[in-house]
Amino acid sequence: ASFDMGGHDTYMHKEISEQPDAVDRVLRGRIDDRFSTVHLGGLNLDPREARTIRRIKILGCGTSYHAGLIGAGLIESMARIPADAEPASEFRYRNPVVDPDTLYIAVSQSGETYDVLAAVQELKRKGARVLGVVNVVGSAIAREADGGVYVHAGPEVCVVSTKCFTNTVVAFALLALHLGRIRDLSVTDGKRIIEGLRKLPEQIGEILQNEDEIKKLAEEYAGAQSMMFIGRVRGYPVALEASLKLKEISYIHAEAYPASELKHGPLALIEPALPTVAIVPDDDLLEKNRAALEEIKARSGRILAVAHQPQEKADHTIVVPKNEDELDAILMGIPLQLFAYHTALAMGRDIDKPRNLAKSVTVE
Ligand code: AGP
Repeated sequence: ASFDMGGHDTYMHKEISEQPDAVDRVLRGRIDDRFSTVHLGGLNLDPREARTIRRIKILGCGTSYHAGLIGAGLIESMARIPADAEPASEFRYRNPVVDPDTLYIAVSQSGETYDVLAAVQELKRKGARVLGVVNVVGSAIAREADGGVYVHAGPEVCVVSTKCFTNTVVAFALLALHLGRIRDLSVTDGKRIIEGLRKLPEQIGEILQNEDEIKKLAEEYAGAQSMMFIGRVRGYPVALEASLKLKEISYIHAEAYPASELKHGPLALIEPALPTVAIVPDDDLLEKNRAALEEIKARSGRILAVAHQPQEKADHTIVVPKNEDELDAILMGIPLQLFAYHTALAMGRDIDKPRNLAKSVTVE
């Protein structure tokens, strides 16, 4: 790659550090404070059409799929439209029922991932309306879609996606807010979300300043054979994404589970040698999440929590700034990017070029 490293040792580190600016870019020029609404020029969806959507299906692969999971949650909570995400690679092989009242959204950093492109083409053959949430301008998926939202993360060189994940989730927050304000989201709630979005760049900056502490923790956990990541509802996709990051660059085996599913099986794995990373936001599920930490502690499991306040049952807590409940997931993923990075570094891995992986998978 030929992009300037800007004083960083790896592209991954550079791209993690760029996130305050990247988030600023995805927001810029898109918010209308007079009405607490969002302007998305390329969406190509008029308000009347937006009101007829009965369901939203989000498709992507890997990290983009995880961003889509968070996006689905944002759309459900702000626009009250039933939404879910599925790996595009699975969707295209199960002869899906294509429903005319469903809006399909394809998510991709590169805009060239073959499984996603093939899903979009199949959907379009069947008459569906497909939007793109894409980073690379003019890419194949962006061209194929009927409209969409550009993510504006800037070029992402490292094989593992970091800043594009964050920006994609913010793009979904804008889309959810837009659809919500056309439908039933109040102006007050619109304003509240907008204020939350505007706080993100600075709050991400605060998290990045904790790098030394996160590095120390990563070095402590770097010897683990395997790690468990847990979260609940909004926190679960954060756990999935954090575990993918760790796998991709450190080659430590990691699993992500909804915290609520622990007792249905994975609790059997918990012992001192299997550390757990727990996403514990200060929201309506705080007590539920704390109960899961207790279950793990009772089995002598080590716990690293990412939370808004130190967690008594955890061995360590990475404290992150609080935003609106809907937007907390965006911030909680950031320290875990640095955690994966420093774990891999401590293990001497080639961070920008993890084994067996390519930046974009343009073949079947
Ligand atoms: C992320 O760290 C990955 N290397 C990978 O999962 C990636 O997100 C996936 O291949 C999809 O790529 P895309 O966003 O360019 O479509």
